[in-house]
Amino acid sequence: MSKMLYILNGPNLNRLGTREPEVYGSASLAEIEGQCAKLAQANGISLVFRQTNAEGELVDWVQEAADKACALILNGGAYTHTSIALHDALRLVAVPVIELHLSNPAAREAFRQVNYVAPAATASICGFGAMGYDMAVTAAVHLAKISKPINKTS
Ligand code: DQA
Repeated sequence: MSKMLYILNGPNLNRLGTREPEVYGSASLAEIEGQCAKLAQANGISLVFRQTNAEGELVDWVQEAADKACALILNGGAYTHTSIALHDALRLVAVPVIELHLSNPAAREAFRQVNYVAPAATASICGFGAMGYDMAVTAAVHLAKISKPINKTS
């Protein structure tokens, strides 16, 4: 089993800390990455933690995770609600995929009710703020240990 956990972050998440703190909290993405790195190290796995504003780059990284990761945690940001390309890329990933959001999109605007990530994910963690990242790392380690590769082509 690969011991590499991928955490991929989509558009505008580089502005965490100052971006709508009443919705997304006051932790920066660098602070969140630090927490995740500690937790990954404590579990004996290495961490790949990235953010991009570009949809194509996010798709490239999901494909990379499909080849290299033991599990993938994805906060797709707004691409969650728009990107069929992201959905299709996730369907290539045979290891556990955890959809992650700081807020709870289901309790927000109507346009956030469309979700192309959840149908291609193993599980979702939403609404816990920055703590959700810690929860997702713990869950990903657990799922990676128990999971067998799955085929999403059906
Ligand atoms: C988000 C929720 C999305 O709806 C939004 O577009 C984001 C952040 C979250 O983490 O709560 O950019 O993914």
